[in-house]
Amino acid sequence: MFSKEELQQGLNTRTIGTKIFVFETIDSTNACAKTLGDAGTEEGSVVVAEFQTNGRGRHGRSWIADPGVNLLLSVLLRPVIPKDLAGLLTLYASVAIARAVEKASGCPIECKWPNDLLLNGKKFCGILLENTIQQSGLSYSVIGAGVNVNQTAFPPELEQRATSLARECSTTYDRKELLQRILREMDSLYDDVRLGKLDRVSKEWANRCTMFGQLVTVEQHDRTISGVAVKLHYDGGLVLETPTGTTTVYAGDVTVVV
Ligand code: BTN
Repeated sequence: MFSKEELQQGLNTRTIGTKIFVFETIDSTNACAKTLGDAGTEEGSVVVAEFQTNGRGRHGRSWIADPGVNLLLSVLLRPVIPKDLAGLLTLYASVAIARAVEKASGCPIECKWPNDLLLNGKKFCGILLENTIQQSGLSYSVIGAGVNVNQTAFPPELEQRATSLARECSTTYDRKELLQRILREMDSLYDDVRLGKLDRVSKEWANRCTMFGQLVTVEQHDRTISGVAVKLHYDGGLVLETPTGTTTVYAGDVTVVV
């Protein structure tokens, strides 16, 4: 278990990590960061836990991670950006974490729409963005990330799709160092967010995504759409060329048709 002091030592960030809350066990770091957001806590605050009893994933799913071997974190942000660009914060976090992991491991990291990071084609990181919108605009954002770092075994139903850095790279990682790297990358990229230069983030995200030009299916709760993944929409949606025309999707599980 790392302490808040250890994490902050030598971090040297401007915004991200100015306040850090560390828990041994918590229900969900995202839920905690949302409580902080409602209470007016400053942006850049980070919540870290060794274990979550109610880790949240997309579409009401759970995020399950072994205790003490992974990274579970949420970052509270209050960027002044238009509401319609708020979804791009997932791409911002993806790019920052991809850069950090790539530097730590030397392995190329792929982005998968909408919120996954892959290593050797398997998911090792999921991001859950929870935006709180008011009439005037984005009130605050919580960006939660679960990074499978040193976990070596996964439940049988996830075995084919999930992995960890340790499994892919056959070495264990210092989680404190990796977390500091992630917070530093988020901090330096946050300047682009602040300045509204989210197109730079989208470009790097798209360069890390291999599905463009390929036939994909997007499974949503009530339908499945098939089409060629063409590009990212300016707001982070996925533009598909379908037999009936061009459409943009904002949620769903994507599979490349082989
Ligand atoms: C997904 O792939 O469905 C997104 C998973 C996000 C999980 C992380 S773990 C830390 C943070 N706290 C949560 O409750 N969820 C996110």
